[in-house]
Amino acid sequence: MSIEYCKVSLKKLSGKQSKPGYNNNALKALFGSTKVKPCLPFSRSEFFQRSRQNVQGMSISGVQQKLSLKKNEQHELIATVEGGEYILKPSPETYPNAAENEHAAMQVSRLMGIDTAQCGLVTFDGGELAYITKRFDRLDDGSKLHQEDLMQCFDLPSDDKYNKTYEEAGKLIGEVTNGKQSVVLDFVRRVILAYATGNDDLHLKNVSVQRRTDNTSRFYDKLSPSYDCLFCDAFRTDEPGMGQLALGLLYDPDDGDEEFTDMHNCYGYYTGYDFLELGRRLGLPEKPIRAFIAKLKTNEKKIADMINHSYMPDDMKTRAIKLVESHTKALQVVDASEQ
Ligand SMILES: Nc1ncnc2c1ncn2[C@@H]1O[C@H](COP(=O)(O)OP(=O)(O)OP(=O)(O)O)[C@@H](O)[C@H]1O
Ligand SMILES: [Mg+2]
Repeated sequence: MSIEYCKVSLKKLSGKQSKPGYNNNALKALFGSTKVKPCLPFSRSEFFQRSRQNVQGMSISGVQQKLSLKKNEQHELIATVEGGEYILKPSPETYPNAAENEHAAMQVSRLMGIDTAQCGLVTFDGGELAYITKRFDRLDDGSKLHQEDLMQCFDLPSDDKYNKTYEEAGKLIGEVTNGKQSVVLDFVRRVILAYATGNDDLHLKNVSVQRRTDNTSRFYDKLSPSYDCLFCDAFRTDEPGMGQLALGLLYDPDDGDEEFTDMHNCYGYYTGYDFLELGRRLGLPEKPIRAFIAKLKTNEKKIADMINHSYMPDDMKTRAIKLVESHTKALQVVDASEQ
């Protein structure tokens, strides 16, 4: 009998399951109870009809089609215009298995100790899997937590979501949090993880800052949990290169464009050195950045296992494992003397 892994936590399933395919505790963490039915009462094609109808009333932006869901009294997950508790994202036609890919990448983010949106896989009537995430901008009483993405923070139009560097974004996070180094460090870790996982879509709309309800100042407290993580490079079937990032890493004040370090010029791709340079420019201590890079190496086997236990197809798993391996290796090069 083949081993089964939980469609929320990706951990090995054992013991009694209220819902087959789901660990009870993982189900509770995502849905608040084990009664919720992870089989949706509508099909994939019905989803596309409803998401077009509901789109006007919805406050979820983004390129991919999504639907806002809530639990009803029969413990079903149903589409709603108001009071959404979850966001449902099926794989787009053009990116088969994006849902399984995103779910795996999000679990790796969690494994690496990054505050990560609760998420899992649910099943359409008809059998296909879809990605579901619990809204982190809503409190249990339904009230809204104040949150802004970095594009709004920069006051930029949405076409410009790739038009800043991570250095500028990190600097802005420092400013809007009244100089909270821990938040800037959290951001740098997420940029490193994006590189390690071949996620080339960590643009300005994919990072948000949040304010606690009791915070009446204009400053933000923290980053929102991470979202929209994907092994983007694992979709590519051609021979993978060393991967890009959505934004330039370092800022060149002379031309306002990306600046490359000598190490980058020497290697032809980013190494750990470049991310330490990002940290230096943002006034961060080196130690926690080095520690995060080292943690990627120590967790290499756990990450590969998680990918293997995910619901991605085998060839996508193989590509994801390979790219994490090569990028983690590049990240271990942290000193200029290694040139
Ligand atoms: N769990 C969540 N809770 C609250 N808001 C969320 C959550 N996940 C995503 N969002 C918000 O919804 C927006 C769209 O989600 P997401 O980035 O996952 O979709 P997308 O269509 O893949 O985006 P993109 O435009 O980057 O391709 C995000 O920019 C974020 O503001
Ligand atoms: Mg997004």
